[in-house]
Amino acid sequence: MNKHVKFGIIGAGGAWRFHKLGAKNHPIIKFISAHDINEKTLQKTEKYSKLKTYTNLNEFLKSDIDAVLIMAPHYIHKDLVIAAAEAGKHVLCEKPMGPTLEDCDEMISATRKAGVLFMIAENHRFLPAHQYMKNLLERDFIGKVFLGRTYEGAYAIPQFLDQNHWNFTFDKAGGGVVMDQGVHKFTMLNWFLGEVDSAQCWLSKTLNSPSNKAEDTAIILLRYKGGAIVTIDISSSTVHPLTNRTELHGTKGTILEDHSWNDPVQIFSSHPEAEIKGEFYGPKIEHGPFPEYYKISMGHEDAHFAECILADKKPEFTPEEAREGVAVVLLAYLSAKNGRRTSMEELIKLYKTEGTKTIIKGLENEIQQNYRKMN
Ligand SMILES: NC(=O)c1ccc[n+]([C@@H]2O[C@H](COP(=O)([O-])OP(=O)(O)OC[C@H]3O[C@@H](n4cnc5c(N)ncnc54)[C@H](O)[C@@H]3O)[C@@H](O)[C@H]2O)c1
Repeated sequence: MNKHVKFGIIGAGGAWRFHKLGAKNHPIIKFISAHDINEKTLQKTEKYSKLKTYTNLNEFLKSDIDAVLIMAPHYIHKDLVIAAAEAGKHVLCEKPMGPTLEDCDEMISATRKAGVLFMIAENHRFLPAHQYMKNLLERDFIGKVFLGRTYEGAYAIPQFLDQNHWNFTFDKAGGGVVMDQGVHKFTMLNWFLGEVDSAQCWLSKTLNSPSNKAEDTAIILLRYKGGAIVTIDISSSTVHPLTNRTELHGTKGTILEDHSWNDPVQIFSSHPEAEIKGEFYGPKIEHGPFPEYYKISMGHEDAHFAECILADKKPEFTPEEAREGVAVVLLAYLSAKNGRRTSMEELIKLYKTEGTKTIIKGLENEIQQNYRKMN
């Protein structure tokens, strides 16, 4: 059995910097080759990352690699995942899985048919603080969660103002911050709380960004089938030290989490195994403020995928769970378009009739009008 997995990368932009920080020196991961449509980017990748580079996708896929890590714009994930799977490579692809449920379905079926492992690189699933929280919930540290308050965001004003940058556009990214950032939070919340019943979403355009750019700010209210209600506020135009936050309030206690804290999880619980009962305490968890938490979460994520390849076992984060995260993104957009609370059943009905590609259509005016109102 190989002692390491040979990876090729597709797309050597911003996300590559984080994966490189987190996984390049991991003993079971070897990054071998790179493909990108931008030749200058490839030249830099060859020089600084010491990878063998290919401008041609097919040549790249024929290179001596076991797996592909895709870090390209959202609209092209489907084609790249299918091409890699058909070439017999295991596929790790950045979030969000794709801008529509139909894209997600095609990726799942192509990777299954090819018999390769497939995981979406959702680093929030591999952040030790989030894994710690999941474990506390499973051990009933805080009882039944009735309320969640969360914030998700990353400063991205330059990308919003750049008309030619693919991200946050309707056509290449599939939407703005709800697609790009919200998907992280929705995927994590589904893992903690189960299935979403319904959503109400407001989208806002705060920046004077070009008209091809979608929302830079949003508020979403989610009701879970288990009864919990949750607020998610998302913005890539707010300025503050980089963070992400989650509060979970349960019938028997509370968990507070903030990426910017050195001890990222604070617990209030009277559970027999609580280190301190009836008072907030912060257990020691592998963590560090930005950019450390990226490095840690991506390192664990990439290593997990490589371990699964070496041991021939299924990744713990399934493509079906990643697809559910995309479903909540689309539900939020559908609610904004409907101007009312919208149920997951309504989204599924639309998926089975018109298809989910139709959801984003018609949101442009609403988002742009919001900017005009503010000015
Ligand atoms: N997990 C995280 O926290 C995180 C952080 C950043 C980005 N991402 C995700 O990573 C992906 C890439 O985002 P990014 O910020 O690196 O974008 P980027 O624009 O910085 O880099 C994308 C790269 O892909 C290349 N590219 C574009 N089309 C291509 C194609 N058809 N074939 C090959 N290469 C192509 C571009 O030339 C560019 O070098 C997205 O899915 C994004 O959501 C995730």
